[in-house]
Amino acid sequence: MGSWSKLFGKSKEMEEMSNVKLAVVFYSMGGTNYQLAKWAEEGAKAAGAEVKVLKVEELAPASVIEGNEAWKATVDATKDVPVVTSEDLEWADAIIFSVPTRFGNMPSQMKQFLDTQGGLWASGKTVNKVVSAMTSAQNPHGGQEATLLSLYTSMMHWGAIIATPGYTDPVTFGAGGNPYGTSVTVGQDGKMIEDVEAAVKHQAKRTVTVAEWVKKGNQ
Ligand SMILES: Cc1cc2nc3c(=O)[nH]c(=O)nc-3n(C[C@H](O)[C@H](O)[C@H](O)COP(=O)(O)O)c2cc1C
Repeated sequence: MGSWSKLFGKSKEMEEMSNVKLAVVFYSMGGTNYQLAKWAEEGAKAAGAEVKVLKVEELAPASVIEGNEAWKATVDATKDVPVVTSEDLEWADAIIFSVPTRFGNMPSQMKQFLDTQGGLWASGKTVNKVVSAMTSAQNPHGGQEATLLSLYTSMMHWGAIIATPGYTDPVTFGAGGNPYGTSVTVGQDGKMIEDVEAAVKHQAKRTVTVAEWVKKGNQ
């Protein structure tokens, strides 16, 4: 590119920037879903998105958390992560949720956050958000798909556009093959069993890409 186009033209890098604003909203007790959220951030940033990583508010009493070393460590590790607000959702073109499985469902902390978005929903501001979800569970068949579906059910009410990974990239197979959204098994020691980093990054990139298509088509 010549100097004129450097000043006034769009560089190739600028053209590749997606312009998509992505909120990665997570809840985590043992740190797994915080890690998934950070990988999603990396994947989305590599795809050119502007990203905010945000946690939902903790609802458990401090006395309960204090008695659990892993939980306490996660609260400490995420103390500087902002708590998600309605304004963050309004800002976002796309949202990736990441939650642990709780009896085959999303945790109450995430449900409480969704249930306080009635105002945003009523004003039509949840419509056309491109959404995707990730999860973890202690057992390989511990309710991962059900947890993802619990989130997606609410998203259907929001008029959001659900962008699942499906089998759009072979990385999904190496990560356990969940087409609903990346899921990982977490052992008793709190360590992830499958290597899902690439699958998370692919899911993030795909979410950003679909959001980009929606944004362009809506202009
Ligand atoms: C109240 C409760 C319910 C849980 N329910 C399930 C379950 O239904 N199936 C399962 O495999 N694991 C279950 N687990 C294990 C969590 O899913 C697991 O610890 C979590 O995915 C780790 O994610 P995190 O490190 O982000 O907290 C449960 C854990 C708790 C505390």
